[in-house]
Amino acid sequence: MMFVSIYTVTKKLPSVVKDILKISMSFPLAITASELAVNYIYDFKRFLKWSGIHHRCKTQTHLRAMITMDYHRIEKGLSLKEPRVGFGQEVIQMLLSNLDEYKEKYGIDETFQIALNSLFTYYKFNVDRGHKNEKIYEIITGLKDLINTKESTIKEGGVKKVTRNSILESCQIDFRAFCQSRYSIRHFTSSEVDINLIVQAVEIAQKTPSVCNRQSSKVYVFSSDEDKRKVLSYQNGNRGFGDQVSKVLIVTSDLENFVSIGERNQCWIDGGMYAMSLVYALHSLGLGTCCLNWSVTSYFDQELKKATGIKDSESVIMMIAVGHLPEELKVAQSPRKKVDEVLFVK
Ligand SMILES: Cc1cc2nc3c(=O)[nH]c(=O)nc-3n(C[C@H](O)[C@H](O)[C@H](O)COP(=O)(O)O)c2cc1C
Repeated sequence: MMFVSIYTVTKKLPSVVKDILKISMSFPLAITASELAVNYIYDFKRFLKWSGIHHRCKTQTHLRAMITMDYHRIEKGLSLKEPRVGFGQEVIQMLLSNLDEYKEKYGIDETFQIALNSLFTYYKFNVDRGHKNEKIYEIITGLKDLINTKESTIKEGGVKKVTRNSILESCQIDFRAFCQSRYSIRHFTSSEVDINLIVQAVEIAQKTPSVCNRQSSKVYVFSSDEDKRKVLSYQNGNRGFGDQVSKVLIVTSDLENFVSIGERNQCWIDGGMYAMSLVYALHSLGLGTCCLNWSVTSYFDQELKKATGIKDSESVIMMIAVGHLPEELKVAQSPRKKVDEVLFVK
């Protein structure tokens, strides 16, 4: 039976993995290797299916990701100390073509408007400096009718001026003390967390940096006892406190936002950073949180998605338990390594 299942699994493996498995392996190692390969193939298939790497049929999210990537290239170029006049003509062409396709398929929305605003900032910067490219600039000016319509209240996109002082003023917080006072909480009161606090925390977390500002992260909130019980039943690290949690959050990152093979692991970076911001945001609002690992095999990943309706294109980054802090509680000390163990000044 065991032999049959391994055979079925390995039969499906690409030859390169088979070659690896042929390297003399003990039977238990071969089983582990096969299971590992099956899980990698799950990730591989999802990335191949959902990301924009093959460009055959672009979904709205793929197109949005590419538009965002390109208008953000313009923003980045313009934010340099000395932007090069006429920079990024290829990017502009690609952006214009994607905007055209987007408008045809999905109409004009916020992403479209932001991209237009960036394009106009780019246009003004170059034309003011005498740069000429009639073909491109004609198309950009032709888009003017689509901007500043009554419906368009979106002014974002492009660059803005900030001062050193304005940044430093906002830094007048004791960030060290703030970080030191966050603990993973495993003891909560029975009072409910107002959903508005979660909304506020998500608003704060939206400022998290992400690759080319593509913002692939999403947050799902579970509040009813039934939903929380169901969701937490798939997670292995909430025993002893899961039943006290007021809200269970699931943070995901949508693979449709990634458009190159090099970005195959980007969901874990962007989603992980987002989750950290969210935890700090919840902490800043006085709530207790505990990150809950989603270190599971493909089987449980699929089961959770079936139970919650989270799309297959989304990678689950982690769950976050949220609740109110009791007057007094114990926290794990979780001592940290010393700086000289982790910092290498070369
Ligand atoms: C991705 C991630 C997953 C975690 N999963 C769990 C978990 O399943 N259960 C739990 O009790 N704590 C979990 N933790 C909390 C860690 O144990 C905790 O962050 C670590 O010991 C440091 O302690 P502190 O958060 O109190 O500073 C997780 C933390 C992270 C970042």
